[in-house]
Amino acid sequence: MGSHNESVPTLRWGVIGTGLISSWFTKDITASRKNPRATHIIQAIGSSSLSKGNAFVSQHLPTLDPAPTVYSDYQSVYNDPAVDIVYIGTPHALHKQHCLDAIAAGKHILCEKAFTLNATEAREVLAAAAEKNVFIMEAMWLRFRPLVTSLRKVLYEEKLIGDVRRVFCDFGLDMNISSLPDSSRLKDPAMGAGSLLDIGVYALTWGLLTLESPESIPSEKPRIIATQTLRNGIDVASSFILTYSATGRQGILTSTVEVRTPVTFLRIEGTEGYILVEGVGASAPRSYTVYPKINPAAETVEGKKYEFEVEGSGFYFEADAVAENIARDEKENEVMPHGETLRVLEILDEIRRQGGARFPQEG
Ligand SMILES: NC(=O)c1ccc[n+]([C@@H]2O[C@H](COP(=O)([O-])OP(=O)(O)OC[C@H]3O[C@@H](n4cnc5c(N)ncnc54)[C@H](OP(=O)(O)O)[C@@H]3O)[C@@H](O)[C@H]2O)c1
Repeated sequence: MGSHNESVPTLRWGVIGTGLISSWFTKDITASRKNPRATHIIQAIGSSSLSKGNAFVSQHLPTLDPAPTVYSDYQSVYNDPAVDIVYIGTPHALHKQHCLDAIAAGKHILCEKAFTLNATEAREVLAAAAEKNVFIMEAMWLRFRPLVTSLRKVLYEEKLIGDVRRVFCDFGLDMNISSLPDSSRLKDPAMGAGSLLDIGVYALTWGLLTLESPESIPSEKPRIIATQTLRNGIDVASSFILTYSATGRQGILTSTVEVRTPVTFLRIEGTEGYILVEGVGASAPRSYTVYPKINPAAETVEGKKYEFEVEGSGFYFEADAVAENIARDEKENEVMPHGETLRVLEILDEIRRQGGARFPQEG
């Protein structure tokens, strides 16, 4: 499974679901770019109907040659011997079953975030993957961005802002939920709807990435205080504080589907300065600016800006990493390891326990 073409590995993808994220992901990983680390082939598409699958290909992947095989069900993708890895782009509540089905067919998996509804489901999926000896990873693409690697180096190797003390991160999108049809996954608690699993998971990820030094992961377990605003059974806003007892660091992290966050969505404060991170949203950072310690007497403050323009959307960073893992016959990725996926879901579970959001599947 997976192969080497000249110097870079080739991976043949089977895509499950033809919604928004599947369109972004497939377009991005098949677009031409400079010095790709892997070759990605969209081998098959699984959709609830053939017409929807064909429309997806003609709308989003019209130039692929050969064109992907389109199936009117998901099982045919799992069964296709030409598919190396299954990309799961369905609503979170369906990830568990779709992962289990793909694993049963012996396929590797890249599964969108939130990986599952809760940590219990994730444990079941990860155990099944281990049993079948297949690769599996949560598609938390943010962690693979060069900006994140650079920022962590600035924080914990170069220590440009001294000792990190506090982090404020917000991911808000104005989703106008009430205008959506009842069938929308963003409205339906049975599909895992709510700001926390959809976008709060990014705010949490930023908190973990910026408050924890490379040595501390994953041994330091933060204490959590959380609150949620619930409307029609879904959390329209979640706010949570992570406190690390060993260092005393705090992260104030928020998500909402009611208003959009301004471009500067993240502030990291240290003893010797602070950093502002900018982007169209917390999932797509574009730059960060490092400022010295605030001098109340100074009239202007000069910051140093680090910009990270990416080709396309940047989904290929995670896809390339997965192709390399599979070419090396690895079952887990070091940037998004299984233990971290579980830890994230355990924290999300605790936020929901305190905030009150429950999914119908949880009783
Ligand atoms: N990484 C990112 O930046 C990012 C961005 C957006 C979303 N996501 C994640 O990707 C997943 C899908 O989100 P999306 O925005 O792409 O959703 P979406 O546009 O609603 O698409 C989901 C697709 O899943 C399939 N599906 C199967 N059963 C379904 C059901 N009962 N209800 C709705 N859809 C069903 C449908 O495809 P077929 O009819 O073709 O089978 C549908 O088009 C979520 O877990 C979300 O968190 C990630």
